[in-house]
Amino acid sequence: MKAPVSRGVYYYSCNVRPDGMSLFVTFEGIEGSGKTTQIKKAGNYLKGKEIPFVVTGEPGGTPVGDELRKILLDRTALALSGRTELLLFAADRAQHIKEVITPAMQRGEIVLCDRFSDATIAYQGYGRKQDIKSVRAICDFASRSLVPDMTLLFDISVDQGLGRVIDRARRAGNVPLEDRFEREHMKFHEMIRSGYLALAEEDPDRFRVIDASGDAAAVHREVCIHLEGLIKR
Ligand SMILES: Nc1ncnc2c1ncn2[C@@H]1O[C@H](COP(=O)(O)OP(=O)(O)O)[C@@H](O)[C@H]1O
Ligand SMILES: [Mg+2]
Repeated sequence: MKAPVSRGVYYYSCNVRPDGMSLFVTFEGIEGSGKTTQIKKAGNYLKGKEIPFVVTGEPGGTPVGDELRKILLDRTALALSGRTELLLFAADRAQHIKEVITPAMQRGEIVLCDRFSDATIAYQGYGRKQDIKSVRAICDFASRSLVPDMTLLFDISVDQGLGRVIDRARRAGNVPLEDRFEREHMKFHEMIRSGYLALAEEDPDRFRVIDASGDAAAVHREVCIHLEGLIKR
């Protein structure tokens, strides 16, 4: 393990050299759908197979991204206009790709990423009602047109997802919720969920929609099936 470069990023490297295979897998879904839980389990699964990987996520993943994350998520942040919010997510992504994602892919590792461009389209496009075409163009520019090899969409009802978020916050002593997105109204989260499902429908080759309502072990088993399928391909 190398020293982490940013909050939440960790690497697993081993002596087994990958056969030039690099894969980019993103984890998407509404708040509380289990992305962070599942990405950790997926990392452990790859570790068990001695496959080098990096677990990372957005916003964040780089020192610059960690600063942007504070601005983007903190409920006490200065009022952000819709366009500013969109551009800060894009800026975060541009840095993340340069510092973490591209280098890992060049090393032939599997990149597991907690949120990526689909999140921007779902949240800033479908949620905040920024023009979808512009959001896509900005994502494309920020990501240098990088498209995930596979996107796991953890689908769950807003009730259940937010219920988990509130439980998580209570356990951590973070009530009232601190996160600007977690604090949004139900309708907003419903728009995100249906936005994600619309994206999945548009691109069934890339998306795997996973029912995230079951227990974490059952969801993990499904994640493993999809990872296995991708690695073999
Ligand atoms: N399948 C599951 N069943 C029950 N609770 C879960 C499940 N997956 C995650 N959790 C819990 O729900 C909360 C939100 O999960 P998390 O992985 O942080 O979601 P996300 O990263 O998508 O917001 C956490 O407290 C987590 O421990
Ligand atoms: Mg999370």
